[in-house]
Amino acid sequence: MKMIQLIYASTLSGDVSFSEINRIQTLAQRKNHQFNISGLLVYGRRYFLQCIEGPVKDINQLYSNIEKDSRHRDLKLLETREVTSRSFENWSMHLIMLTEQMDHLILKYCNSPHFEPHKISSKNALGLLKELNENYSTQHQITLSENHKVD
Ligand SMILES: Cc1cc2nc3c(=O)[nH]c(=O)nc-3n(C[C@H](O)[C@H](O)[C@H](O)COP(=O)(O)O)c2cc1C
Repeated sequence: MKMIQLIYASTLSGDVSFSEINRIQTLAQRKNHQFNISGLLVYGRRYFLQCIEGPVKDINQLYSNIEKDSRHRDLKLLETREVTSRSFENWSMHLIMLTEQMDHLILKYCNSPHFEPHKISSKNALGLLKELNENYSTQHQITLSENHKVD
């Protein structure tokens, strides 16, 4: 089955509260699991950077839903590419909230002390997401597999 990986940046809408972000993730985890979609959502300074990966048709459908979601705006598509393996296979949707601890990675990939995901290259976006995932993923993992769900 043809699989793609899509990365985009966006900005949290002005009237949306911080606590809404956890609700987005909870729903995303449940829905993505059903469609065999995996990915990572990073939030900081009112910006999102998200990678979603899975079957082409489902990723296109999901991105079309995400684009219409009024809880964020200024979506910028950074990357869509066909892949043979996943970068975030253990997560149906993992959320990482940026903290000061992670500043060195922002400097490394954003070429600035500030997280400004709209300005970074697709290569750096993926590099940042992967390195954040490797170093700062503490939640229990949800494994996507034929047998589904471990913990
Ligand atoms: C930043 C952001 C990331 C999102 N990520 C996902 C996601 O990974 N999966 C998902 O199903 N919905 C995600 N959503 C929610 C979708 O935009 C949309 O609300 C949802 O897919 C609609 O589900 P429904 O058709 O069942 O109501 C995200 C929303 C935002 C604002």
